[in-house]
Amino acid sequence: MLLFRIPPHGPGFVPMILNINNLTKSYKEGYNGQSPAHRVLDDVTFSVASGEFIALRGASGSGKTTLLNLIGGLDVPDSGRVEVAGQDIALMSDDGRSEWRLHSIGFVFQFFNLIGNLTVTENIALPLLFQDTPDRKARERAHALADEVALGDKVDRFVNQLSGGEMQRVAIARALVHEPGVVLADEPTGNLDSTTGHVILDLLKAASKRHGATVVMATHDHKCADYCDRTLEMTDGRLMKTEAP
Ligand SMILES: Nc1ncnc2c1ncn2[C@@H]1O[C@H](COP(=O)(O)OP(=O)(O)OP(=O)(O)O)[C@@H](O)[C@H]1O
Ligand SMILES: [Mg+2]
Repeated sequence: MLLFRIPPHGPGFVPMILNINNLTKSYKEGYNGQSPAHRVLDDVTFSVASGEFIALRGASGSGKTTLLNLIGGLDVPDSGRVEVAGQDIALMSDDGRSEWRLHSIGFVFQFFNLIGNLTVTENIALPLLFQDTPDRKARERAHALADEVALGDKVDRFVNQLSGGEMQRVAIARALVHEPGVVLADEPTGNLDSTTGHVILDLLKAASKRHGATVVMATHDHKCADYCDRTLEMTDGRLMKTEAP
């Protein structure tokens, strides 16, 4: 069993309560975008407390990735607001939003978005290096996270030489390495065997319960009910019901 080394949050930690208000998003399809707009998110409203671990479930195409992208400030809604720690992210300057994302968000992308010609250590350390953390400290911390996701023996491999499940674990380590206040994880166990999936869910839970992070995880994984505080169900871009664990 792997040990968690994510420390409790320090004095500078800001609780990241998420308020998602009436988010609506449509996409135009086709080559020239002239086909009718297709509504992908429809009036989505919910809140997540600091330290809470939420699962977002729904069929393929129901809007989970779109919603995570809006929460992380990677895309903009047609209407509605995303407030993090009381701040409307649409009102931040571009630089301010980039800075906020760098320090406060850990994003596990559905398709990983790793840099293939960098090593496991370098990929995991990227958020710290962008924050000007000294190289040695960033490497040490990256190695600790690589251990957490059972990649301690592959830290010097280029990520384009890894299996899909190994790449997914690098993506998860990179999202947690800088101890962000908000973790947005898009199907983080989709490529993993059951045992490794449990390790990852344990890690995300530790990020919320020990580090105080607000965690929103899109998933099809039924194991998540044992780990998450709440499950939100999406159907065709709408939130259907809220389940108590
Ligand atoms: N950039 C885009 N342009 C046009 N349509 C898009 C775009 N991105 C997503 N869509 C559409 O929006 C809908 C929701 O997509 P989204 O990726 O959010 O679904 P999802 O719930 O994450 O699905 P999955 O479980 O397969 O990952 C889909 O119908 C998809 O085709
Ligand atoms: Mg998706």
